[in-house]
Amino acid sequence: MALDPLGAVSLQSIMALSGRLALAALRLWGPGGGRRPISLSVGAPGSFGCGGNSEKVKLSLKDVAELLRTRACRRVVVMVGAGISTPSGIPDFRSPGSGLYSNLQQYDIPYPEAIFELGFFFHNPKPFFTLAKELYPGRYRPNVTHYFLRLLHDKELLLRLYTQNIDGLERASGIPASKLVEAHGSFASATCTVCRRSFPGEDFRADVMADRVPCCPVCTGVVKPDIVFFGEPLPARFLLHVADFSLADLLLILGTSLEVEPFASLSEAVPKSVPRLLINRDLVGPFAYSPRSTDVAQLGDVVQSVERLVDLLGWTQELQDLIQRETGKLDGQDR
Ligand code: OAD
Ligand code: ZN
Repeated sequence: MALDPLGAVSLQSIMALSGRLALAALRLWGPGGGRRPISLSVGAPGSFGCGGNSEKVKLSLKDVAELLRTRACRRVVVMVGAGISTPSGIPDFRSPGSGLYSNLQQYDIPYPEAIFELGFFFHNPKPFFTLAKELYPGRYRPNVTHYFLRLLHDKELLLRLYTQNIDGLERASGIPASKLVEAHGSFASATCTVCRRSFPGEDFRADVMADRVPCCPVCTGVVKPDIVFFGEPLPARFLLHVADFSLADLLLILGTSLEVEPFASLSEAVPKSVPRLLINRDLVGPFAYSPRSTDVAQLGDVVQSVERLVDLLGWTQELQDLIQRETGKLDGQDR
């Protein structure tokens, strides 16, 4: 298997290993899907312990900080969801009251998930493009959490960041594309639903901003941004998880309900000896139903929790400097 200079296995070799069947299985499905996830896990859920060691270790946030600070862990895999972008002003999906799925009256759709369903999109693409207008890159800015992840990368501690978010804020924070897996796609590119030609997402910004459904310049078919809808396959890069989650020595999970598959099952794909830190408002996924003794759950507001971790790491000043530099760059771009 080919290794890139950072020791990560190349996407090509994973694809060759996994083959077409794996790709077909990795389609998006949500809580309405009615089944438990396809199993991406290693080891049986529900059992406790650290690797083969039966001794129970209870880790704390401070311990996780120490593992990072001393570089005892330096192949950190991160999983994030909409909860990391709420401090940037973007509503998440499932928070009661504030979440997008409780506030879709203005979108004129029969039920919340219809906004990401192909069948409904072909019937009426307008509601999706109303959401697209809101989320098109440039409107919102990364917050402390995104910049904390960027700092992890700058310190060469980040193996990969898996995001479900389609707001592009991980890219905007300066994390390079090679370190990202945008599991539910992005607005960076778009595909004609008829002739399947691919276009840069920017080509359709003016249409989306003017509330026009974008059309293919070649065949006039409706052009859909490359956001993964329910039932669609995830991007090929998602297969990087096969190697990343085996190589990881720390898993951070931030701001996600872990309700949507196959993304959610990745949380169980690290070996049992690998500590998992959840930073979220509530206890979710395996942290709730099959916790491991090496799990740490830091519950509450994501920014406060990240600031606490950064403080324990002694990175507060460095993070502030990074945010100031990067905010200056974004201000410059806006002018
Ligand atoms: P959800 O809305 O399902 O979950 C967001 C989680 O973040 C919840 O557990 C919230 O409690 C938590 N949260 C929100 N704001 C927070 C804050 N300030 N501090 C701490 N926690 C906070 O969002 P996702 O898990 O990302 O699909 O949803 C997964 C997928 O469902 C999305 O990618 C989307 C949707 O269908 C597509 O876009 C294709
Ligand atoms: Zn076309």
